[in-house]
Amino acid sequence: MLIIGIAGGTGSGKTTVARSVIHRLGPDKVTFISQDNYYKDHPHLSLAERELNNYDHPFAFDNELLIQHLSLLKAGQAAQAPVYDFTIHARSTSESVELRPNKIVIIEGLHVLSDEKLRALLDIKVFVDTDPDVRILRRVLRDIEERGRSIQSIHDQYLGTVKPMHEAFIEPSKKYANLIIPEGGHNEVGVELLTTLTEKYLTRG
Ligand code: CTP
Repeated sequence: MLIIGIAGGTGSGKTTVARSVIHRLGPDKVTFISQDNYYKDHPHLSLAERELNNYDHPFAFDNELLIQHLSLLKAGQAAQAPVYDFTIHARSTSESVELRPNKIVIIEGLHVLSDEKLRALLDIKVFVDTDPDVRILRRVLRDIEERGRSIQSIHDQYLGTVKPMHEAFIEPSKKYANLIIPEGGHNEVGVELLTTLTEKYLTRG
């Protein structure tokens, strides 16, 4: 099983890169995992308290569960990934996603490269490197359209936690990448390179 990790800041285009590579490789060959689904749950906190959490620090993620699921997949067993609901800052109680063992696993997320234990499991390490102004613009649109946020809350969160955590943990994790893809999914050559590299690894067995 080949494991590819795709890291990068918020709104960098990690998901688009992953989806483009999966499309090129053939969806049947790839199991896709979003680190976002492994956000820790805080059922003891109220919604107002959960809104104030720092969701950009590496500790916000349950990477132990993610690593456990990767081990199951490596052993040829399926795993049930949680599903995260950004509109209520909580793990969905009714949904889960079945992860099946496969030739290729792609994991995308903010801290896929900053976590040492997770990084050690990756065969190909990718960092999607997109300018901060482009990333924040994408985030504003997405958070309003899909995550039920106000412009004021996006502003406060970005300056309060998103930007400082990006500078402290995400940007420095770029040095661990084997491949840096500027501008994400719109970089056809970068996506093609990652696809070809993956195919080459697969034929090597
Ligand atoms: N986040 C949030 N509220 C939560 C949990 C997470 O606002 N309850 C935010 C964090 O602040 C973090 C972001 O979600 O910055 C992580 O998602 P992001 O990387 O932006 O989304 P992807 O679609 O995975 O990435 P990309 O746009 O690169 O495809």
